[in-house]
Amino acid sequence: MSARLEAEHLFKVFGRRPDEAVERLRQGADREELRGDGTTAAVIDASFSVGEGEIFVVMGLSGSGKSTLLRMLNGLLEPTAGRVRHDGQDLTALTDRALREVRSRKISMVFQHFALFPHRSVRDNAAYGLEVQGVPRAERERRADEALALCGLAGWEKSWPDELSGGMQQRVGLARALATDADLLLMDESFSALDPLIRRDMQDQLLELQKTLKKTIVFITHDLNEAMRLGDRIAVMRDGRIVQTGTAEDILLRPANDYVASFIQDVDRSRVLTAAAVMDTDPRGDEADCACETATPDTPFTELCAISARVPHAVAVLGTDRALVGVVPRQRLVGFLGDEDAEPTPCRNEGGEDGKKVISRA
Ligand SMILES: Nc1ncnc2c1ncn2[C@@H]1O[C@H](COP(=O)(O)OP(=O)(O)O)[C@@H](O)[C@H]1O
Ligand SMILES: [Mg+2]
Repeated sequence: MSARLEAEHLFKVFGRRPDEAVERLRQGADREELRGDGTTAAVIDASFSVGEGEIFVVMGLSGSGKSTLLRMLNGLLEPTAGRVRHDGQDLTALTDRALREVRSRKISMVFQHFALFPHRSVRDNAAYGLEVQGVPRAERERRADEALALCGLAGWEKSWPDELSGGMQQRVGLARALATDADLLLMDESFSALDPLIRRDMQDQLLELQKTLKKTIVFITHDLNEAMRLGDRIAVMRDGRIVQTGTAEDILLRPANDYVASFIQDVDRSRVLTAAAVMDTDPRGDEADCACETATPDTPFTELCAISARVPHAVAVLGTDRALVGVVPRQRLVGFLGDEDAEPTPCRNEGGEDGKKVISRA
C-alpha cells in the first residue's frame, strides 16, 4: 500500500517561545510541565502514514489534540516542527497559493456541524466545493446530484437544508465532500452530533461508500467504538501524543499501556474480533470437523458464536482452498469476551495423545 499522506514528527505548540518548547518536549517534557509557562503543547511528535484507500482513525478525548493535528494535515495550521507529505510532496514547503490549490482540489473536509448554507438548495450545497473550483454549473449540478444519490438523498436536490433531519443534513455535508474529485477525505467528529442510531447508519453508509470509492480517509472521533467500526488502523491520542497505532484487534488484544487498556473496557469486543484473532492456530486435541459448518478467518465473532452453538465440537476455520488454518473451541470464545487479560491461555489437551491434533475429515 503506497503512502498518500505522511506525518513526520509533527509538533504544534501554542503560546510563547514555541521552538524552545519543542526542544523540551523532545527531551521528554509533557504537556503539563509546559502549561505553567502559558504554553499549550497541542500535538507532540506525531508520526504516521496513511495508505491509499485506507480509513485511518485518530481517537482521543476532547483536548487531546485531534483537531489541531487534522488542521496541520490539510495545511490550515503550520506545524511548529515536523513535516506533512501528500504523495511525497512536502506540504509545509508549498507557497500559500499552491497550498490553497491543494486544499481545494485534493482534500475534502467534513465537520461535526454540517455547515450547510441555509439559503442554498441541497443541490447547491452539495455543489459548493465544485463552485469554488470554478466548475461550470451544468457539470457541477450533475456531479452534486450523483454524490447526493450516493448518500441516499436522491429526490431531495431541490429541498432546503431546514427541511432535512440532522442525519440527512450530515449526508449533504458528506455529499459535498464526495462531489469533488478530492480523494483525501478529512473528517473531524463528523458523526459525533448525531443520535446513536443515525450515527450507526452513517457509519454503515461510509463503509459501504468506501467499498467503491476507495478514498483515503482520516477520521477523527472521541468514541472508541466508532473508531473500531470504521478504522483500518487507529491512532490513540492522549495529551497531545499518539500513544498507540494499530488495527482494532491490535488495540483490543494488545493495548500499549494502562491508558489504552482502560479505554477498551467499554468496547463491544464481539463486534471487532474475527475468527483470525480468536482461533487457535496450533490446536492440540481439539476436535473439529471440516465437513460440518465451518468459519473463515474473517468470520465475525458473533457469527462464530452462532456456529459454535450449532456444532458439537470446535469450529474449524478454513482459509483459501478450504485448508484448515485454525480451530475455535467453545471455551476459547468465552475467554475473549472478558475484559481482563484478553489472550486466553492456550487450550489444554483433553483426551487424545499428547500433542496430537484430532481433526476428523469426511
Ligand atoms: N489556537 C489555539 N490557541 C491556543 N490553544 C489551542 C488552540 N487550538 C487548540 N488549542 C489547545 O490545544 C489542545 C488541543 O486542542 P484540539 O486539537 O482542539 O483537541 P481535540 O480536537 O482533540 O479536542 C487543547 O488544550 C486546546 O485548548
Ligand atoms: Mg476537536
